[in-house]
Amino acid sequence: MSYQFLKHLHMTFVVISITGFFLRGVWMLADSPMLDRLWVRAVPHVNDTLLLLAAIFLAVRLRQYPFVDGWLTAKVLGLVAYILLGMFALRRGRSKAVRTAFWLAAMATFGYIVSVALTKDPRGFLALL
Ligand code: HEM
Repeated sequence: MSYQFLKHLHMTFVVISITGFFLRGVWMLADSPMLDRLWVRAVPHVNDTLLLLAAIFLAVRLRQYPFVDGWLTAKVLGLVAYILLGMFALRRGRSKAVRTAFWLAAMATFGYIVSVALTKDPRGFLALL
């Protein structure tokens, strides 16, 4: 499989991940029963697993690894933060205001990860501050 193809696959899973997360946040705000649908709960796990798998293949091909190369360390830690913030945004947050704050923070974290990917700098868009 070519590197470019893997990278586009990774980026496709990235777009699906954030689109799905945005949509689930809208459903959370609207108290929609959609959030409890089995496929709505299952698809993100499948997609995010594939996103990570493609990322691992890319890192191996590039011979650049998390906890060795700063920008990949930042992406992995960013991904963990995105997942944790997302859990509080969609289910665990006590009130809708709290869940909304976590939802916005999760999307900002996602933007940070994309900026790290584009700049290969662990500071990402924070370097602009
Ligand atoms: C939500 C999480 C993630 C997002 C939003 C994301 C986003 C992106 C984007 C937009 C690109 C394309 C950059 C470009 O055009 O050059 C990319 C590439 C890449 N990502 Fe991710 N990524 C995520 C997670 C990860 C993780 C956890 C790893 C670490 C194992 C990783 C490793 C890579 C690698 C190695 C590339 C290829 C870089 C290149 O060839 O220039 N990604 N990622």
